[in-house]
Amino acid sequence: MSVTASASAKTILFGEHAVVYGEPAIAIPLSDTRTYAEIRPNGLEFRVISPKVRLNQTFPELSEESGLKQLLYLLKDEFSLTELPKVTLSIRSDIPIASGLGSGAALSVAVIRAFAGLTGSELPAERVNGIAYEIEKIYHGTPSGIDNTVIAYEQPVIFIKGKGFRPLEADLSRLSLITADSGIRSKTVDVVSDVRTHMDRNEAALRGIGSLVRTAETALKAGEPAEIGRLMNENQRLLRAIDVSCPELDELIGLALANGALGAKLTGAGRGGNFLVLAQDPDHARKIRSLYAERDIRTI
Ligand code: MEV
Repeated sequence: MSVTASASAKTILFGEHAVVYGEPAIAIPLSDTRTYAEIRPNGLEFRVISPKVRLNQTFPELSEESGLKQLLYLLKDEFSLTELPKVTLSIRSDIPIASGLGSGAALSVAVIRAFAGLTGSELPAERVNGIAYEIEKIYHGTPSGIDNTVIAYEQPVIFIKGKGFRPLEADLSRLSLITADSGIRSKTVDVVSDVRTHMDRNEAALRGIGSLVRTAETALKAGEPAEIGRLMNENQRLLRAIDVSCPELDELIGLALANGALGAKLTGAGRGGNFLVLAQDPDHARKIRSLYAERDIRTI
């Protein structure tokens, strides 16, 4: 019998980086963009394959440093397994790696859910979240926990590090939001560590992001697109001030604004990866998507 589980991507609407220092941040799942983990018995050995990243290894062959290996150790303990089952774990993902959409957390959550399915265990979202957070520490060093939380619960959240989250009670369906990929890959751990190194000069901007998020929560609940767009632009200005944007992101964001977007900002760690554009309405969103398509910029 085979078991398949999946987990969504995420985007941070407001508050990345500041969230690492205790400020609130707002994130939403991207439920149509997912990572899938399928477990199928092979009667031989534990093996993990992921054709996209040319991974095809048994458990001992996996590097001790890899998040996946550390996750498998945790799962062995979690489900009291004396040894890993003789199965092939196949991973397939629509989420680009190192691009701000939570690919690492989605991988962990999908694999945890697949193991729970295999062992017939009911694992509450809280526990899935807790295990995924342990692995985020390996990927990110000092993660806030927002990525694993929004992905494990798969709902819009207002998150505060160490305090957990509350659901964001807002109707986002009327917002014409575009997620677009600059195509540049960057490592969250490096960007987060640079922000920390220059904390003296970054502190004021990080606190500014925190207060902006509180205003954004009100605007999202009230469903005010013009105000939400203005706050996205202000958030991007502060992200540039802490030096986590890059010329390519600035240019792609500028293109949307020059073509009438209400707001635009990077999402996730920055220095590449994805960015968000708030268009005026669905027709306008189509126009902006086609501008990006002309430049081979993928949008969700
Ligand atoms: C990464 O998706 C978001 C950051 O704020 C890091 C974190 O919260 O752990 C940059």
